[in-house]
Amino acid sequence: MSRRVVATASPSLALVKYWGKAPGGVNLPATSNLAVGLHALRTETTVSLALDDMTEDTVTINGARQKIEAYLPVLDEFRKASGSEARFAVESTNSFPTGAGIASSSSGFAALAVALDALLGTGLSPEKRSVLARLGSGSASRAVYGGFTTWERGSEYATAFLPGDHWPQLRIVVAVLSEARKPIGSRTAMERSRETSPMYPAWVETSQQRYADARAAVLERDLEQLGTVMRASYLAMFSTMFTANPPYIYWLPQSVALIHELERARSRGTAAWETMDAGPQVKIVTIASELDEVRRLVSETVPDARIITTAVGGEPSVAVHDSSEA
Ligand code: PMV
Repeated sequence: MSRRVVATASPSLALVKYWGKAPGGVNLPATSNLAVGLHALRTETTVSLALDDMTEDTVTINGARQKIEAYLPVLDEFRKASGSEARFAVESTNSFPTGAGIASSSSGFAALAVALDALLGTGLSPEKRSVLARLGSGSASRAVYGGFTTWERGSEYATAFLPGDHWPQLRIVVAVLSEARKPIGSRTAMERSRETSPMYPAWVETSQQRYADARAAVLERDLEQLGTVMRASYLAMFSTMFTANPPYIYWLPQSVALIHELERARSRGTAAWETMDAGPQVKIVTIASELDEVRRLVSETVPDARIITTAVGGEPSVAVHDSSEA
């Protein structure tokens, strides 16, 4: 009998950011962070045991074979947890641009952890799945839950904070300004910030207050307070990149144009606040009644932007397919 497992997960968008690693483990966050699962964006990952004559693991994303090194920490931990020597065949597809600052690694490693747990029957707790997904990418520790998630400074796993329907009117508009793969990944970039930016200690020191403020804002569904702290978080994070040695600037002119346009919109009373990650895309947090206005503003400012709109959600799903064929 052969078994194939198909798992899906959504990327995790941080409203206050994880940026910089704490000592003492792999991908432990130096800063407490809070995120949402982007319901409409999906990674689908199919995992099966490799055929008998295959001696290595294989991973493809959208059909392209990947270097295996990034995946081995997760695959090896699952082999350990299940006491198996099996090799895995992993095929993953994304419904949104890969490696362009829309956290495809968070949904990718989350779907992988959920799929391997079902394939091997390891029956891991949600926290343990979060621990193992984190070994692939820090933000994947959050994406194993969907909804609103928190991940505290130094913690090995993220936590489900609130379900997506806690705030049913909340929407995220992702303005995809470039579909190119980014030149430096977040892993390298955050290490460079930590090692070389004089702003990094201040970023870490001030992050705990932003985290507390963001939690309170989400609990109270206070979009203005959340928007204000979101902006403070991403702008402080980028200050560590602008002041790293060498510095690096993910922003495009269109990113800055949108930031300015949103400032103007807020002064007219539109409830929309942006955040950015390790890439040029601008993610706008708003409410359902403002969606038309926000989408209009994006397409007028950047006519060729791809616009993706989503609510908060993105809990992973898993389906197990057994077949008697070899
Ligand atoms: O999980 P990583 O290593 O791709 O880092 C994620 C970094 C940010 O997306 C910029 C912030 C975050 O908390 O997701």
